Amino acid sequence: MNQKVGIDLIHFATSDFFLGLDVYAAQKNEDYDKFKIGIGQEKMSIAPPDEDVITLAAKAAQPILAQINPAEISSIYFATESGVDQSKSAAAFVHGLLGLPNRCRAIEIKHACYAGAAALQMAVNAVKANPSEKVLVIASDIARYDLDTSGEATQGCGAVAMLIAANPRILEIEPGSGYFTEDVMDFWRPNYRETALVDGKYSTKVYLNSLKQAWTHFEENTGRTFADIDYFCYHIPFTKMAEKAHKQLVKHTKTKQDSAQTQAQTIASQIYNREIGNSYSASLFIGFCSLMDNQPDLADKRVSFFSYGSGCVAEFFSGKMVAGYENYLMTASHQQQINQRKPLTYQQYLDFYHNSECPKQDIEFEVYHQGPFRLTGIQDQKRNYARTANNS
Ligand code: HMG
Repeated sequence: MNQKVGIDLIHFATSDFFLGLDVYAAQKNEDYDKFKIGIGQEKMSIAPPDEDVITLAAKAAQPILAQINPAEISSIYFATESGVDQSKSAAAFVHGLLGLPNRCRAIEIKHACYAGAAALQMAVNAVKANPSEKVLVIASDIARYDLDTSGEATQGCGAVAMLIAANPRILEIEPGSGYFTEDVMDFWRPNYRETALVDGKYSTKVYLNSLKQAWTHFEENTGRTFADIDYFCYHIPFTKMAEKAHKQLVKHTKTKQDSAQTQAQTIASQIYNREIGNSYSASLFIGFCSLMDNQPDLADKRVSFFSYGSGCVAEFFSGKMVAGYENYLMTASHQQQINQRKPLTYQQYLDFYHNSECPKQDIEFEVYHQGPFRLTGIQDQKRNYARTANNS
């Protein structure tokens, strides 16, 4: 019999601050509806200078570790586009910050937003090969574009931690998937840049073409059809992109569907992302948390996942929700984090934006956020992290 492997526990983290797109629109002399309706975004989570992908990742993983024996984790796969070091993996930083045992592998995985799905699939295969292993997959990103570019309104930040194990309690990842790679320049970030470059309109076209290609491969590989899927999760750079993706898939598969059916299959997975913004590699899985936290009665339902990473690599795969999954969700923490964020003025956002640029000399950061882990400073070109007083 095929060994069941998948997501045993999942929790996400975001920052303590947001910039409202109403504030952003007023600053840029734009109509707020362009963002609220046109791209489907209302807020973007903004990281202060003492928060980075490491502290967000540790904040996402900590409640999972509190429920298991951390010595059981055989590997950490850390997916990110916004890593902090060209050599040392973000996974090793998090391993230290979380105080994990030394008998553990720790690596970083990159391909823009696709890396989270890549890490998940690699973890599933590792556990299938050795069912006694448990892999901690973390996807963590801070989306940053240049000021006054089309991408600026689609920034955000978040991290998702997932424990991948045999006989999972939340989602069983099904065998078989569809994947697609094409060497294109729709979004990229050369090593010397802290912000991404994007050919915005082109990137949306490449995303939609990749969806068609990955879907066709998925159908061929698995024999599953559109009608076999109950809920659809897409990579969400902005929620209107997921709406366009679903419309594209309905058309491509020649499915007859009215807008109520479309909404029922997709809206619950978009609620959190509308408030958080793009979190690159984490965004698809924050969408999955949004689906589970906002849509009841998912037991035994099939959920599909479309991961898209610019550049580009895409994958379409599916999973089955496990009966009793609702007993293991961390909905209260997700909602509390989103609701307790503090609004920023445009000037405060600019201050965070510029102070988060990588300093070339020693620096001690002020305390900006109340999360359980902080980036305290950089000395001798080494990043220093600490647990805070709010670390339970
Ligand atoms: P833009 O030029 O700011 O906006 O760029 P626009 O003028 O195209 O307007 C956007 C939509 O709002 C349009 O609707 C307008 O009609 C509508 P659409 O034609 O798309 O259906 N609109 C309004 N609606 C209501 N009331 C109004 C109003 N005004 C306009 N008053 C763009 C949009 C997506 C290009 C920009 O946001 C951008 O560059 N974003 C960054 C790139 C991006 O997110 N691409 C997505 C695909 S690539 C991807 O997902 C990978 C990524 O996550 C990175 C990774 O892989 O790591 C980015």
